[in-house]
Amino acid sequence: MNEQASQRGKWGSKLGFVLAASGSAIGLGNIWRFPTVTGENGGAAFVIVYLACVLLIGVPIMLAEFTIGRRAKSDPMGAFRKLAPGTLWEFVGALGVLTGLMILSYYSVVAGWTLKYITLTLTGALQGADPDSIRTTFTDFIQSGQSVTSYHLLFMILTVWIVTGGIQGGIERAAKVLMPLLLVLLLLLVLRSVTLPGAREGLLFYLKPDFGKITFSVVLAALGQAFFSLSLGMGAMITYGSYISEDDDLVSSAVSVSCFDSLIAILAGFAIFPALFSVPGLSPNAGPGLIFVVLPNIFNAIPLGQLFGSLFFVLLAIAALTSSISLLEVTVAYAIDQLHWKRTKAALVMGLIVFLLGVPSALSNGAVPAFSGILDVVDRYFGSISLVLGALLLSLFVGWKWGIPSALEEIGQSRAKFGLAAVWGFLLRYACPIAIVTILVNILIG
Ligand code: PHE
Repeated sequence: MNEQASQRGKWGSKLGFVLAASGSAIGLGNIWRFPTVTGENGGAAFVIVYLACVLLIGVPIMLAEFTIGRRAKSDPMGAFRKLAPGTLWEFVGALGVLTGLMILSYYSVVAGWTLKYITLTLTGALQGADPDSIRTTFTDFIQSGQSVTSYHLLFMILTVWIVTGGIQGGIERAAKVLMPLLLVLLLLLVLRSVTLPGAREGLLFYLKPDFGKITFSVVLAALGQAFFSLSLGMGAMITYGSYISEDDDLVSSAVSVSCFDSLIAILAGFAIFPALFSVPGLSPNAGPGLIFVVLPNIFNAIPLGQLFGSLFFVLLAIAALTSSISLLEVTVAYAIDQLHWKRTKAALVMGLIVFLLGVPSALSNGAVPAFSGILDVVDRYFGSISLVLGALLLSLFVGWKWGIPSALEEIGQSRAKFGLAAVWGFLLRYACPIAIVTILVNILIG
């Protein structure tokens, strides 16, 4: 292996790859962002649109990203350059690198909130507190710029540290052990949440659709959330795909990752909404603080709540880490492949840039009035619209430029059966682009 290749790395096994890609997908997107966006967009009807987006658009695009990645064995920008030399397509890769930096900048801030909640639960600070003081604790904390910025810094240091360890050393090992544990803990929370007094109303909100609530902006939110949660539209899965070996089956990998990711998001909703409606004074459209003001109430309602609460926030922080490393990895792979930097230098420099970009988001909740609301704005533009645009360009690229036959050839390299090839081609060439353009146009003129 030449030096460049050894700086890149490779997954140890197919299971290792599926777990690492699931680690990228499962994170704050499922447990923090999914309930938040579902609450803001009216509940059950949103959830149905969301699942349709995952199935009809998310899975095909994930397969497309894996395929591009494995064929090109390069960072997103280099991948487009290799597959379509001398064209403007490489700017899709560049958009991905920029999007990665911007998403990670506020992702790390929210991940910092979870680090803070580890200390709050470990010390029992929220033990026995009533819903009002739980809420006040949260708002006081996010208003303190210094504390939020310090946790943001701490989280970025952890991310850089793991990314420096290389592919197998860091990312894979962490993902293998901890994701199943998170699932078990989440199931436990769901059990408690749905048996709380008043849970029924929350279940109705979450499960009984009112299709009158569906507008184009609700559909855009669902699509953006699907891409955010599945780590699509900015090259993370191209990058992870570039480390897959030739004989792994891409189709079943894309399906497994998407199912696992959706399962965790749906469970997070079952943990949050019944509990939310059992507490007077809380509303589902509470915005980004939702889970932080709801979950401590559940921990207070279960035996050993302090233990479970601490464990939950530890696991959530780790889930966030296995996602943040994939966001940073996109920019690091770019620096290694295009700028020929060493991994350590790439991780340090990119990590520093992300930290600085995130400071306004860290100060956006009252600490500095000029930055007020920045976190939500960056999330809307980069965490949603930019991913939707990226996915549109990606489907056009595979469907019309690189071509379905070339992509199928790469997928077929693993000799896996792929009976749904025609459906996949149709979805990528027509359904995905038309759906995305229709939504965007309606938002623009609406
Ligand atoms: N999918 C991750 C999550 O749900 C976030 C992410 C988005 C990671 C885009 C990589 C790329 O938390």
